Amino acid sequence: MAHIMGFGGYTPERIVTNDDWAQLVDTTDEWITQRTGIKRRRVAADDESTMTMAVAAAESVLEDSGLVPDDIDEIILATDTPEMMTPDTSALVQHQLGCRNIPTYDLAGSGCAGFVQAVDVARSRIAVDPKKVLVIGVELISRMISPKDRNTAVLFGDAAGAVIMGPEPARAEVLNVVSGTDGGNAEILTLAAGGTRNPFNEVTLANGDYNRLVMDGRKVFVEAVRRMSEASVEVLRRIGKSVSDVALVIPHQANLRIIEAVRKRMGLDEDKFFVNIQEYGNTGSATVPLAMWEAVNNDRIQKGDLVVLTAFGAGFHWAAAAVQF
Ligand SMILES: CC(C)(COP(=O)(O)OP(=O)(O)OC[C@H]1O[C@@H](n2cnc3c(N)ncnc32)[C@H](O)[C@@H]1OP(=O)(O)O)[C@@H](O)C(=O)NCCC(=O)NCCS
Repeated sequence: MAHIMGFGGYTPERIVTNDDWAQLVDTTDEWITQRTGIKRRRVAADDESTMTMAVAAAESVLEDSGLVPDDIDEIILATDTPEMMTPDTSALVQHQLGCRNIPTYDLAGSGCAGFVQAVDVARSRIAVDPKKVLVIGVELISRMISPKDRNTAVLFGDAAGAVIMGPEPARAEVLNVVSGTDGGNAEILTLAAGGTRNPFNEVTLANGDYNRLVMDGRKVFVEAVRRMSEASVEVLRRIGKSVSDVALVIPHQANLRIIEAVRKRMGLDEDKFFVNIQEYGNTGSATVPLAMWEAVNNDRIQKGDLVVLTAFGAGFHWAAAAVQF
């Protein structure tokens, strides 16, 4: 039995609009809005980092849960944009937050599915050992990909979101999680630089490879729609429910057209899908916890609601969780 005790999030103050991007690369507000639904995104300040954003989201969820850092028994942090190659960001967060010397680890590189996968890992950790697990999704993508590449740069934003999970009944229960991976599609969405295949050096710097996000957008699009909708239906089937029982779906926010296609495949009305992509763009692993935090704060979720979280990302990885409020 894994329960969610509270919700938290953090977004940097700086807002970058589509018109701002149009000053920098060959794009327009019209193209970005029509193709993606994004209107603006947040970008971290120079004195912010993946760790500081994760800590801000952690402080937010601690306050929301009525807990202090001493209460946390484990940290799982999902990110594709870590503070450093090593050590992992979760270790830095543990110290900065003032936690005990608890175990922490990053769930790294699973793209935008990272947070929902981390919820699944936390669920199994709690089943083995009844503890309180801080689960964070954080991304500082703006600093990792080329600002000159209009194909990718305009899609993303920086943010962090978090929940605290524990064994005792609380505000919501994670009933089940379905997740999967298709490494056969790994090359379709990559940021290779900095790894052993493509280490940072003069060559990658000269080639501009050090921040090149390679993406076949159309293939990602098609697979994202299929996997997120299928995983959502499957997680509902596992708990003996159907789409008609769902109060709200919180999908990964990569493209409004992807979200719409998932919604139509599931046969649900618009008001059953939470959308905030227009404000933040794609914030990777932070997208789902940030959206869930907003949905709770904006009274889009009531006690008794069955909520589905669904996400898809590089790997390809995907996951869907059924959450009973
Ligand atoms: C990336 C994405 C928005 C592109 O939308 P699309 O409708 O598939 O666009 P296309 O691939 O058909 O490209 C259309 C044209 O727009 C151009 N284009 C790309 N980015 C542009 C931009 N910011 N401004 C203007 N034109 C742009 C392309 O160069 C292409 O030009 P061409 O036809 O002359 O080659 C869309 O495919 C998508 O969102 N895919 C999923 C991406 C994703 O989810 N990534 C994160 C993983 S979780």
